[in-house]
Amino acid sequence: MKALVYHGPGQKSLDERPKPEIQAPGDAIVRILKTTICGTDLHILRGDVETCAPGRILGHEGVGVIDAVGSGVTTLHVGDHVLISCISSCGKCEYCRRGMFSHCATGGWILGNSIDGTQAEFVRTPHAETSLYPLPDGADEEAMVMLSDILPTGFECGVLNGKVAPGSSVAIVGAGPIGLAALLTAQLYSPAQIIMIDLDNARLEIARQFGATDTINSADGDAAGRVMELTAGRGVDTAIEAVGVAATFLLCQDIVGAGGVVANIGVHGQVVELHLERLWSKNIAITTRLVDTVSTPMLLKTVQSKKIDPLRLITHRFPLDRILEAYDAFEHAADTGALKVIIEA
Ligand SMILES: NC(=O)c1ccc[n+]([C@@H]2O[C@H](COP(=O)([O-])OP(=O)(O)OC[C@H]3O[C@@H](n4cnc5c(N)ncnc54)[C@H](O)[C@@H]3O)[C@@H](O)[C@H]2O)c1
Ligand SMILES: [Zn+2]
Ligand SMILES: [Zn+2]
Repeated sequence: MKALVYHGPGQKSLDERPKPEIQAPGDAIVRILKTTICGTDLHILRGDVETCAPGRILGHEGVGVIDAVGSGVTTLHVGDHVLISCISSCGKCEYCRRGMFSHCATGGWILGNSIDGTQAEFVRTPHAETSLYPLPDGADEEAMVMLSDILPTGFECGVLNGKVAPGSSVAIVGAGPIGLAALLTAQLYSPAQIIMIDLDNARLEIARQFGATDTINSADGDAAGRVMELTAGRGVDTAIEAVGVAATFLLCQDIVGAGGVVANIGVHGQVVELHLERLWSKNIAITTRLVDTVSTPMLLKTVQSKKIDPLRLITHRFPLDRILEAYDAFEHAADTGALKVIIEA
């Protein structure tokens, strides 16, 4: 089968690889219909993610059809259409019983990281019964791909951890798919103000269309000053970091108001300064989270009932044969206008 393989920092290629086989009774083999590329795949390609070794098939998002199941799988059947969660969970270990699937003793974020992922014709999914979701009748497959990672991530790591509340003020730094997913799901809680910050004016324009009340291009270095103007000098109740570089985590520390929360989403590969000399007295909280995908069943309902329309995040489509072009479009979003790119296997 064809698969997109990581060969070390800066190197990837579309290779021929053997079709995966069932290895454990709880496994399923899924024939991929649609997958996509995440900002985290770009972090892997920059060498930011140590757990991902050269030779790995990338990808942790997608929908597909069950091609085979292990002997222990009784609730899923060959031919079922399923959503693949970016987090695999056994449902039985201590962390899973606490609802923290991201730290499952034998799962967590393993797809496209410590085991082969979804940017291929087939993928092996461990703990299939508790990591795959049967698609509801009539579900839009492309919309469902947005539920593998970005909607639960924006919602859990940004909105829930950030304690977004009715009437509150929110700033989201990073208007990529994850920041925009946080923007869409923050509106479930009716905050009064959502300020979107990025370097890319086209993405900021999309953020306005998606419901941002204000946008700031931070290229001039005065984003913090603008946020203070927009919040009468107070700073925001929730500052969501959705980029994964030191500068944006520092900006969040500058714009969080007293009693507020800095909710980090970004994958960081570098040391970042923490300004406790300014923050110690501000009654703030800082949260970090690897998405647990505990909210996936709930978000699936909001998508099915059209309270959230994730199709708005999809800008480009490519066949798997042309996945290198898809990476190119996603990496150069400022030139291509790409948000989520759908790859059809
Ligand atoms: N915590 C989790 O579980 C989890 C899950 C998925 C993704 N992520 C991470 O979330 C982050 C965002 O993912 P994405 O797919 O939206 O990535 P992306 O690369 O598409 O988007 C990042 C955005 O940040 C903007 N940006 C870059 N540098 C900036 C700066 N200095 N100031 C302001 N804006 C800047 C870019 O213009 C872009 O719009 C990544 O770090 C990704 O790895 C985390
Ligand atoms: Zn991801
Ligand atoms: Zn577990």
